[in-house]
Amino acid sequence: MAMVWTSDLNTGIDVIDRQHQRIVDYINQLEDPATRADHQAISRVLEDLADYTLSHFAFEESLQEEVGYQYAKPHKAVHDMFIKRLTSYQHRHDAGEPVVEQLHAMLCTWLTHHIKRDDMAYVAEVGAKAKQVTEDRKEGGWFSRAMKVFRKR
Ligand SMILES: [Fe+2]
Ligand SMILES: [Fe+2]
Repeated sequence: MAMVWTSDLNTGIDVIDRQHQRIVDYINQLEDPATRADHQAISRVLEDLADYTLSHFAFEESLQEEVGYQYAKPHKAVHDMFIKRLTSYQHRHDAGEPVVEQLHAMLCTWLTHHIKRDDMAYVAEVGAKAKQVTEDRKEGGWFSRAMKVFRKR
């Protein structure tokens, strides 16, 4: 079943919500029957998903550091653990194992829980500051520097 964006996934920090929605779009590409029937197409979606998710994590971790979130380190550890899980699925897919269905379910569950629990936790604590920092778009400021993680990849 495709992952549907519901209002309870909104953190209220626009740039973060847009990044999360983009991750959902990648996850949902794994539902496309044409993609599922094509080993290479799945590989490409997984690469794009991993790439984009890494950029989002780097952006979010930088934001948490910028606003002095006290649990920035454990939050990063959760991100790192997820990337390890995703990478291991990628390896299994590369080896020819039929993992897509299980992987799709894991991605939906993980992302929903992570946003609702871990991301909402930092927003509850430092959301006002984070909003201010992400809306200040001046050249050379935190935002323009942090966005470079997306252009690099
Ligand atoms: Fe996060
Ligand atoms: Fe996030």
